[in-house]
Amino acid sequence: QVARAQALQILDSRGRPTVQVALTLDDGYVARGAAPSGASTGENEAVEVRDGGRAYGGAGVTGVVRTITDRIGPALEARTFGTVGDVDELLHELDGTDSFAGIGSNASVSVSIAAARAFAHLGGSETWRWVADTLGTSPRLPVPHFNVINGGAHAPNPLAFQEFMVAPVGASTFADAVRAGAEVYASLRGRLRAQGKLAGVGDEGGFAPDIDAPDEALDLLVGAIEDAGYTPRTDVAIAMDPAANGFGTPTGIYVFSGREHERDEMLDLYARLVRDYPVWSLEDPFHEEDLESWRAITAHLGDEVQIVGDDLCVTSAERIDRGAADGESNAVLIKPNQTGTVTGTFDALRAASSHGMGAMVSHRSGETLDAFIADLVVGAGTGQLKSGAPARGERVAKYNRLLEIEAADSSLPYGLAPRA
Ligand code: PGA
Ligand code: ZN
Repeated sequence: QVARAQALQILDSRGRPTVQVALTLDDGYVARGAAPSGASTGENEAVEVRDGGRAYGGAGVTGVVRTITDRIGPALEARTFGTVGDVDELLHELDGTDSFAGIGSNASVSVSIAAARAFAHLGGSETWRWVADTLGTSPRLPVPHFNVINGGAHAPNPLAFQEFMVAPVGASTFADAVRAGAEVYASLRGRLRAQGKLAGVGDEGGFAPDIDAPDEALDLLVGAIEDAGYTPRTDVAIAMDPAANGFGTPTGIYVFSGREHERDEMLDLYARLVRDYPVWSLEDPFHEEDLESWRAITAHLGDEVQIVGDDLCVTSAERIDRGAADGESNAVLIKPNQTGTVTGTFDALRAASSHGMGAMVSHRSGETLDAFIADLVVGAGTGQLKSGAPARGERVAKYNRLLEIEAADSSLPYGLAPRA
């Protein structure tokens, strides 16, 4: 069905090269897909391939573009495929490794996303409905998690914790949730300006004030939620992603605010933050290899908050199964490029669902205008998405796609999926 496969080196939101694929089908339809890229990556993610050398500081992807046009394209053009799984199998065959180190996860994920859109088109449905039909799930519009204060690897400020997000859990529609997010973002800007702390924004569009204490970030959020006229927790809750790989060790030592914190101190800190602030979700609170700490926090706080494995689970069904069996987290982050294909992403979603775990679909800190994850989260029906601040084109592209989906089908429910 693929008449022509083209690939192009484009720029991502950080000004680094990435790959865009266009598959032209026999009927003339052009299905596109583009690869995002992370800055705080897990050790076991599928591997991006980059050129090395001088151009773009070594980050070019012209080799990957050639792989797609010279190897993947002809293989796609030579056969017909029944499902996206067949395309993804071909990608694995051409790759020949178990981490996509051969062709690059940036090649595989862009081709796989384009193929998913092609199959949705051939079936005559929107991509989100195709996802729901493939997974056998009930579609729903997600609670958007707006990352409004950036730290860690995403900002130059001294704040070690990477993401502070506001989640309009009490909104009744997705459009109302977008309004709440944008209003809180605006009132946060006002607060920062009043305090003389308004600096620039980080990679995901959240403000990057010169602060280093998590308490200070959370106080700012609660104040901004109230300033905007909302009630913290019931209207707008908070989610955090410390991304602890960035400041922790496998042996449970965490360095921030000028000193070392040991495991027990971290557990106490998180327990206090969860008690004192309307935090409902906590992602990567510990280093991905500090499993003892993961088990402890899930046992102690897992009833009060969602404990989300990102670098811990890397969108791998196998790792999600293991983590669930060992009680390491009770929810997972879903990033298609961590596993490298749409099929791998579906497997991870199925694994999470089979264990009754929450699943938050996610962008990467380096993004494009590709909004596949918006369709993915609606179809999968998990009710949670994070795509950065309600600002910057590559972030709002996802939120705007969701507004479009809601406007076209007002029967879709909004909100967190009921916990199994
Ligand atoms: P990344 O960060 O895209 O830079 O890896 C996102 C996250 O940690 O959730
Ligand atoms: Zn994360």
